[in-house]
Amino acid sequence: MIRINENYTKLKASYLFSDIAKRVSAHVAAHPDQPVIRLGIGDVTEPLPAACVAALHVATDEMARRETFKGYGPEQGYAFLREAVAQHDYAARGCAIEADEIFISDGSKCDCGNLQEIFATDIRLAIPDPVYPVYVDTNVMAGRTGGNVDGRYSGVTYLDSTPANGYVPALPAGAADLIYLCFPNNPTGAVATREQLTAWVEYARRHRAVILFDSAYEAYIRDPRIPHSIYEIPGAREVAIEFRSFSKTAGFTGTRCAYTVVPKPVQAWDAAGRPHAVHALWNRRHTTKFNGVAYPIQRAAAAIYTGEGKRQTGALIDFYLANARLIREAMTGLGFTCVGGDNAPYIWVNTGRDSWEFFDLLLQRAQVVCTPGAGFGKCGEGHVRISAFNSRANVETALTRIAAALR
Ligand code: MLT
Repeated sequence: MIRINENYTKLKASYLFSDIAKRVSAHVAAHPDQPVIRLGIGDVTEPLPAACVAALHVATDEMARRETFKGYGPEQGYAFLREAVAQHDYAARGCAIEADEIFISDGSKCDCGNLQEIFATDIRLAIPDPVYPVYVDTNVMAGRTGGNVDGRYSGVTYLDSTPANGYVPALPAGAADLIYLCFPNNPTGAVATREQLTAWVEYARRHRAVILFDSAYEAYIRDPRIPHSIYEIPGAREVAIEFRSFSKTAGFTGTRCAYTVVPKPVQAWDAAGRPHAVHALWNRRHTTKFNGVAYPIQRAAAAIYTGEGKRQTGALIDFYLANARLIREAMTGLGFTCVGGDNAPYIWVNTGRDSWEFFDLLLQRAQVVCTPGAGFGKCGEGHVRISAFNSRANVETALTRIAAALR
């Protein structure tokens, strides 16, 4: 009799965004005459930048000719893309990251979900609350936690992000081995200062810990004082792994391309106390389980770093940030305290009431989908996340409907 991985029984029945999609589908089926506006899941709506589309066409034509056809590519990504990333995302910001420390992949969700498997199952975890559910759930699947009691898994040190700390968690009192951080934050949209990130890097160095730094939303940072990469912090090269995605930067949610930076000095130890380079372990895992991102998609991603590509992606992000500003102003005008939306595409609204109730209210009365804060963790209760990813017309209509619904 085949048996299941019992850790899966500890998980909530379904993934947050699947759960929401089901509720929205039920509403749409019951009220087909009421068009719904989706400001829930952070899925982009605007087309790919023209430079990416042009590169995609050229690369697709290359695949149609014997002389330029490509089969399997390097699992870690083509050199042209890894080099562009190293130069434009890192060297340009004074960060010493080599092209061969960059692993191209089909998404940060997969990377941050998969990376934990190279560490032991009995390590100590520190995970923010509220949080992108993937960090917690993949550790539950791997058996690093106990059961869920009252909305929290035992064996995890939760880093509370609350109104009191401006949604940027303090360092844990005790030691942790693997720390998840995400800035600009999903779901709160809060950003961390250089000083705050420096404290995390020093903590990780002190405890010989590793930070998994998710900076999928770094392109939305407009405040010049806020670091875009953890590697802007001295000493981070020895203790931090960074996830970046083209999804929110250039509209690649359906196109799929991202990368993970694993600097060679990052170490983890075996049971005998011998150090191992995490880079080598991740390379081993990546080459065994992944066959690389499609060549035309990597060409499209590389086009982001051309002059045209930079201008077009900059305009795309400005567009979503202008939506974010409208949402934040409207919700503030309705009397709510909000964070995010200035250096992030998410606005975190302190509703002061049950977050699923508020979600239902917006869906039923305004036909607007948001994300209930409780879905991101216990500290998310009382909040909802509104995403700026939609057309200007839809955002404006949604805000008019929300104002009418809450009047
Ligand atoms: C979100 O809405 O939190 C994101 O779209 C999730 C993701 O990027 O996987």
